Amino acid sequence: MSPRKVIIDTDPGQDDAVALLLALASPEDINVLGITCVAGNVPLALTSKNALMICELAGKVDVPVYAGCDRPLGRELVTAEHVHGETGLNGPVLPDPEMALQSGNAVDFIIETLRREKPGAVTLCALGPLTNLAKALKKAPDIADRVQEIVLMGGAYFEVGNITPTAEFNIYVDPQAADIVFKSGIFIVVMSLDVTHKALVTNARNEAFRALGTPVGKAVADMTDFFERFDKEKYDSEGAPLHDPCVTAYLIDPELFSGRHVNVEIETQSELTMGMTVVDWWDVTDRPSNALFMGDIDADGFFALLTDRLARL
Ligand code: BDR
Ligand code: CA
Repeated sequence: MSPRKVIIDTDPGQDDAVALLLALASPEDINVLGITCVAGNVPLALTSKNALMICELAGKVDVPVYAGCDRPLGRELVTAEHVHGETGLNGPVLPDPEMALQSGNAVDFIIETLRREKPGAVTLCALGPLTNLAKALKKAPDIADRVQEIVLMGGAYFEVGNITPTAEFNIYVDPQAADIVFKSGIFIVVMSLDVTHKALVTNARNEAFRALGTPVGKAVADMTDFFERFDKEKYDSEGAPLHDPCVTAYLIDPELFSGRHVNVEIETQSELTMGMTVVDWWDVTDRPSNALFMGDIDADGFFALLTDRLARL
């Protein structure tokens, strides 16, 4: 089977960085047509710079990287330096990028790529707030029918929230954008906190990254070491959840994950529960299913795949 054509929309972020490395290490499964950056974990100038740094770390300097939206559709930008550090990629010492951003805008790149490729040929992966995707859908509604599917990290049902009591960060930052995406009619695979909080980097798993003995293995171990402090303290867990790599791992081996076809609606009105993913997990409404909402992961299989693929870089 030929590799899936994918655009990765992202706000790196240490876990975004690992997700990108996994995709870039897996050309037989994932053909990265481009990386589009959005403001989220840190402002856009930093997420774009970080994406370039990660491409260079992977030795994939030909991947086009675009900057996109620098703020959510209708709200002030909320960032997460308290988790990811001032640069978004605190932990490893990485050189400033020599690669340059493409001159166009991420939103136009998404639209043009979908219009150029055959209908159903391109998958959109979203690892951050959904602003770029929503803007593309608003500007060019015809592209909705051309997307194969969206695989995204965002939302939660049983785990409820991580940035507020009821909302997950990516959805909370731009709930209006998430609402547009979830109402687009495009099939969506959701890697929620219910899954990603089971993808924990234990000491042994982090040592396996470090033991690769490569610049990539060391950088990933240093990133997760840094990122870990926050979640360990907050959840008293054994390590940090590797949220975003669940998305790129799904493209390689969907059998690692299980979930339900459900209806997901986004709260956009109440400040109290803003950005909540209202998931009809128990099928108590007649709202039609719009997503495959993941709830479980084979974590050992996931980390074995990740370590194995990172070893190639
Ligand atoms: C999500 O928010 C960000 O902090 C991570 O990169 C991930 O995409 C988890 O809620
Ligand atoms: Ca992210």
